[in-house]
Amino acid sequence: MFDAIAPRYDFLNRLLSLGIDRRWRKKAVARLRVPENGRVLDMACGTADMALEIARQYPRTAEIVGVDISTHMLAIARRKIEAAGEAERIRLLDGSCEAIPASDGVFDGAVIAFGIRNVGDRRKGLHELRRVLKPDASLIVLEFSRPRSPLFQKIFNLYFYRILPRIGALFSRRSAYLYLPQSVAEFPEPTRFAEMLAEAGFGPVLHRELSWGIVSLFEATPVIKISGDGLLG
Ligand SMILES: C[S@@+](CC[C@H](N)C(=O)[O-])C[C@H]1O[C@@H](n2cnc3c(N)ncnc32)[C@H](O)[C@@H]1O
Repeated sequence: MFDAIAPRYDFLNRLLSLGIDRRWRKKAVARLRVPENGRVLDMACGTADMALEIARQYPRTAEIVGVDISTHMLAIARRKIEAAGEAERIRLLDGSCEAIPASDGVFDGAVIAFGIRNVGDRRKGLHELRRVLKPDASLIVLEFSRPRSPLFQKIFNLYFYRILPRIGALFSRRSAYLYLPQSVAEFPEPTRFAEMLAEAGFGPVLHRELSWGIVSLFEATPVIKISGDGLLG
């Protein structure tokens, strides 16, 4: 599905969100803490909008690794990264969130924007994100959520369930833009998702609503365990 929608993905993101998606990404990336020479993972990187935002906000010494399962998304990401002159420090890997192609504890930070909802085995994906992060690293998750205000919810639902799939169908694959609201409806509530992060070894989890709850921003750090022999792990 993501291979099929890749060519129009950026265009539809801008159109369907009226450009607000850029602001969500900026805010999410601003919450990362990336040291000099740090390494950041952009999981489910798609066309690399997050990776490029990280490159804009953090020192030139920071290395960024984008991982995605869609070869077509990665091909577009590669072109954008080259056009932005960032090929030296943004690397792309074909891989999945459930089996991240990286050793344990190698990243100082990770982001996953509008990605975790699509990961088949979410629990495994979150454990994998925990595995590849250093103990003092930060994880930022950006994901669609459901607005809580009943009035705004009505207006939003009209747009999200009725108008958005039609616009999506005009320019891209209809089924993908039917899947979007459906997958958002099925995604756990923020409190439940925060629990899932905790179950995967993250804590404390901070949750913030953006744009009246259309989007949720989660920030988490790995829980540091002290083993029997007194070592931090
Ligand atoms: C909605 S797009 C988000 C792309 C990008 N992060 C952004 O902010 O625009 C979701 C992406 O997740 C990728 N994806 C879906 N399941 C995945 C998985 N299990 N592991 C890695 N990537 C996955 C898709 O290929 C797609 O590029």
